[in-house]
Formats: sequence, structure tokens, C-alpha cells
Amino acid sequence: MKKILVVGCAGQIGTELTLTLRKIYGADNVIASDIHLPEKCGNGPSEILDVTDRARLETVVNRYGIDAIVNLAAILSATGEKNPMLAWNVNMNGLINVLECAREHKMKQVLTPSSIAAFGPGTPLNNTPQETVLHPSTMYGITKVAGELLGDYYVNKYGLDVRGLRYPGIISNEALPGGGTTDYAVAIYYDAIKFGKYSCFVKEDTRLPMMYMPDCLKATIDLMQADFSQLKHHSDFNVGAMSFSAGDLAASIKKYIPGFEIEYKPDFRQLIADSWPNSVDDTAAREEWGWKPDYDLDAMTRDMLSVLGEKHKNGLI
Ligand code: NAD
Ligand code: SER
Repeated sequence: MKKILVVGCAGQIGTELTLTLRKIYGADNVIASDIHLPEKCGNGPSEILDVTDRARLETVVNRYGIDAIVNLAAILSATGEKNPMLAWNVNMNGLINVLECAREHKMKQVLTPSSIAAFGPGTPLNNTPQETVLHPSTMYGITKVAGELLGDYYVNKYGLDVRGLRYPGIISNEALPGGGTTDYAVAIYYDAIKFGKYSCFVKEDTRLPMMYMPDCLKATIDLMQADFSQLKHHSDFNVGAMSFSAGDLAASIKKYIPGFEIEYKPDFRQLIADSWPNSVDDTAAREEWGWKPDYDLDAMTRDMLSVLGEKHKNGLI
């Protein structure tokens, strides 16, 4: 890959993944793009790009000689339930633009993430298998299942190298999450540092698969760099790291901030969380490209509180 276009670079994952890609491939070889100008993606070229605008995508691809696209543009689960047609438009029409553009330009690779939101009621809750029931109840989840199928279709029909992972909820301390159901697992750390308490929008016993950003970056880069000939799956790899309830998360924070207080006030996101698994079986990712996470809950909590504590001291949050 010589020139990588990151679409949706200004979001929770894009902010950090763009920097990581620039370190690996060189700042000038990674073009950052989003519907608004990215603030934190470091030095290197950037473009305003709406992924639903195929002509503009074509212009940017031609301008830089793009031969790989990382497609992070998406409307996440909670925002998607408030505006399902927007979720459909960005997640589906955006993705088909990326895939068609990549096919026509004979690109070397497309990476487009899926999510645990591809699962739904009827999916086994614990250690959810790679191959299983995919009947999501959110528009976001529907677009993720369709996205996985489309990715695999382009692999099989056109020989395009398309890859994707079903990220769990991602927890990070750079950019805030963009309107998902797992956002409580990030907000709790910010509020613990800033106010010593948090009002949680899911119930105490709500358990979901989660992953710390360093593992998310590692998984993404490892999959991008995996030998294509070794992959049996393509667009839908389960990737696990940790699984905890909201109560477990609060208890982990209390180990380091003993006075931390939490109340539980479930809202519409509870139903979405209840439709997703507790944990996933990621044997395929481990076998096909060597996936192995580094962080567990307490290791993540120590790091999150240390980084956010420093930021708070410096008036950055
Ligand atoms: P995010 O909401 O933080 O960022 C998405 C970015 O897409 C934003 O910067 C937004 O401005 C941009 N965007 C929206 N509409 C666009 C358009 N029309 N054209 C171009 N850009 C547009 O999301 P994220 O958390 O960084 O997620 C990245 C990918 O990872 C998505 O595919 C998401 O479904 C997937 N994912 C994320 C998580 C998570 O917990 N963060 C979990 C599972 C899957
Ligand atoms: N974090 C995402 C969400 O909650 C999962 O895909 O929407």
C-alpha cells in the first residue's frame, strides 16, 4: 500500500488510527478525510470528504493516487436509532461508494469495520461464535451485517481485498465516542476524574464485550498487514479483549478512586445493549492472523485514570 485514504478520520477511532498509520506508512502517505476538518490527526494531507459523495471521493482518490481505503465513516447505534435514514445513507451508500471506487481503481485493500452490533436477539449471548445468528434490532446493526456481506461479495466476485473486524465497544482517552451504546464505558472515566461520580445509562448488570484503544489499533493494523492468502474470513472477524458489566467497571474505578459514586438510570440504549452479546469467540482472528489482546479491565482502568488525570490537571478536560 502506497497511499492510504482514511475516511471518517476525525472520530473516536480515526483520530488515533490515522496517527498510527502515519507513523507506520509515513505522514504524507496517509490522507485524512472527514466531513469536517480533522483537528488531531497530526501532520499530513487532509481533505473534507463526505463519503456519500461519490464524485468527491473520486476526486480525492485521483488527486493522491490512493491505493487503499480505511473506511471509518459511520453513524453509530444510538444516533442511528434517532435518525435511521441517516445511518442507512452514510453506512450503506458510503460503503458502496468506497467499494465501487476501490474496485474501479483496482486498489490493493479496503478496511471497513463491523461491530458487535451485527448480533441481535437470538444470537448466543456468551462466547458468541464467529458463524451465528445475525438478526440485529438496530438500523446500525442492519448496516453492519449488510456491510459484512457486501465486503465478502467484493472479495469473492471481484477479488478485491476487503477486510473487517467486529469491534467490541472501544474505550479511549483522545476523541470522545460518536453516539454509540457503549459510550458509558468511556464517559464513566471522564466523570470519575472530573466529578468523582457518574450517572450510567445502562443497568448495573449490563455486560458487553469491550476493548481498550491500544488493542483496537493493534487489531486493526495486524489485520491490515495479515497475509491475504491465510485469511478464510474477510469482513467479519470477531475480536475479543474483555467482557465486563457496568458494575464491574465501577468497581474497577473504585479500586483507584475509593470515593467514586455511581447511579444507574437506564434509557433507550438499554434495549440496544440487551440485544448484544456478553462476550465473543475470536478463535478465527487468533488462528488466521494471530490476534491476541494486551489489556484487561484493571490494566485499562489504571491507564485511563492516569491519562485523564493528567489532562484534567492541565485543564484539557
Ligand atoms: P465515530 O462516530 O467516533 O466517528 C465516525 C466519523 O465519521 C466522524 O468523525 C464523523 O464526522 C464521520 N462521518 C459521519 N458521516 C460522514 C460522511 N457522510 N462522510 C465522511 N465522514 C463521515 O465512530 P468510530 O467510533 O470512530 O467508529 C469507526 C468505525 O468503527 C465505524 O465503522 C464504527 O461502526 C466502528 N465501530 C466502532 C466502535 C466503537 O466503540 N467506537 C465499535 C464497533 C464498531
Ligand atoms: N460502540 C458502538 C456503538 O455502541 C458499537 O458498534 O454503537
